[in-house]
Amino acid sequence: MQVRIVTDAPGSVRAGALVVPVFSGDSGLDGVAKTIDTEIGGALADISAGEHKGKLAEITLVHARDKNFKRVLMVGLGERAKFEPYMLARYAGAAVRYLGKRGFTEIAFALPELAKGKEAAAGSFIVEGALTGTIDTTMYQNEPDKTIKLQKVIILADGLDRKELEKGAERGEILGEAVNAARRMALTPANDMTPTHMAKRAKELAKEAGLDIDVLDEDEMKKHGMGSLLGVSRGSDEEAKMIVLTYKGDSSSKDVLALVGKGLTFDSGGISIKPAENMHEMKYDMSGGAGVIAAMYAIGKLKPKINVIGVVPASENLPGPRAMKPGDVLKAMNGKTIEVINTDAEGRLILADALCYSAKLGATKIIDAATLTGACVVALGHAASGLMGNDENLIQHFLAASKPTGERYWHMPLFDDYATATKSEIADLRNSAGRAAGSLTAGSFLKAFVGETPWIHLDIAGTAYLEGESAWQAKGPTGTPVRAFVSFVESLANGDEKASANGAVAKTATI
Ligand code: BES
Ligand code: MN
Ligand code: ZN
Repeated sequence: MQVRIVTDAPGSVRAGALVVPVFSGDSGLDGVAKTIDTEIGGALADISAGEHKGKLAEITLVHARDKNFKRVLMVGLGERAKFEPYMLARYAGAAVRYLGKRGFTEIAFALPELAKGKEAAAGSFIVEGALTGTIDTTMYQNEPDKTIKLQKVIILADGLDRKELEKGAERGEILGEAVNAARRMALTPANDMTPTHMAKRAKELAKEAGLDIDVLDEDEMKKHGMGSLLGVSRGSDEEAKMIVLTYKGDSSSKDVLALVGKGLTFDSGGISIKPAENMHEMKYDMSGGAGVIAAMYAIGKLKPKINVIGVVPASENLPGPRAMKPGDVLKAMNGKTIEVINTDAEGRLILADALCYSAKLGATKIIDAATLTGACVVALGHAASGLMGNDENLIQHFLAASKPTGERYWHMPLFDDYATATKSEIADLRNSAGRAAGSLTAGSFLKAFVGETPWIHLDIAGTAYLEGESAWQAKGPTGTPVRAFVSFVESLANGDEKASANGAVAKTATI
């Protein structure tokens, strides 16, 4: 997909369609949208005063056959007072999905006046949204009926800072590609997306982005004492892999941020097998790992001044003849013993060793993302990911850096009570502590494997994939937490960490 930023007069832009923003309320149109409205004789004003209510991603197609742009697509941006730049990603995504399915390949975007002064963010979100809007779920269909073939995105820079728009658009392209890479990995069914295949995909992306990569096999895991991860993998014929990506962006610093992601390529539950209903969705149980690989790809391309490693434990969880059984005791890399109460609480088992290994690789800060608990979906639904951690500064910084991306994270507590609940009578820990506060006992379990290292855990069980499509996004994987990871890394590289430690609100890198 080609991106062009043009300063031509809006009316002279050649494209299959020109997309204009419409706010809800009395004065729905501004800037370029108003100019275009005048050019085509007032139809947009009529429609925005009538049937188009300006709700976010609401759409009306208007014909303008005697103009260079042929069609105008009015896309809602919601209430002007509640506008946030990330909404432009949804604006662009909705337009691409609507027009793309109807065969349009060249789309021009107008921006609202509110984008003035925020051009880098606007450029980034428009391109990110356009790219993520192109994905559909038909990769295995012989005759896909709705593929979107977007070739060209044009952004109208009339009255705006073109340089900043260009800078943002470049970032948006990298981020959008990364988000799509994570989503495609998650969409790929488990018979293809095995741990070995995930490692292969990681190698391809690492090569493209200039990252170092190391993949541990089971023999190497044994040498490191990763008995917890190996316990989960025992029930499957597919070999587990520990994927480690390395980005060195700051040779003057000893600090290393570790991004850790659950790469469970299929979660049947193991011997504590899951009910058949919706079990197929458990191919998405590697979304945290895919998010880490994709975020590392974006980081390699964006080159922020910071050192980051990506650590992805990849495994299947199946009830094969050698599978771990409820009651078994496993030993993790840090020597802690774990009584397996429920083989379906496998995410925390593979993460336990990945967290220990991250510390061994020199991590001075750790963030993990995992589709860890159904309880998190009960607590927050699909509206936000759960966030827990052991370091208030790091948590506040992550919340501030991730907020502008449009991904939502909600801080939940890790009281000592939950740690008490994960104690076992025969081992140091047990992997399940019953129904009460299921996400928080899971978080407390992970905490036992990070020691004193500042750490955040993101439970993305409710946000990594969606059961339905939306105007701006296909059904299935969302790409969470790629946007937040990238934004946080940029923010750390910018030194916003110190600002937030001093009590100031962290500003974020480009957005
Ligand atoms: N992968 C699941 C969590 C999950 C559930 C993700 C629904 C997305 C949607 C995880 O491995 C799991 O099975 N967790 C158990 C833990 C329990 C046995 C303590 C759960 O949530 O039921
Ligand atoms: Mn499970
Ligand atoms: Zn799982």
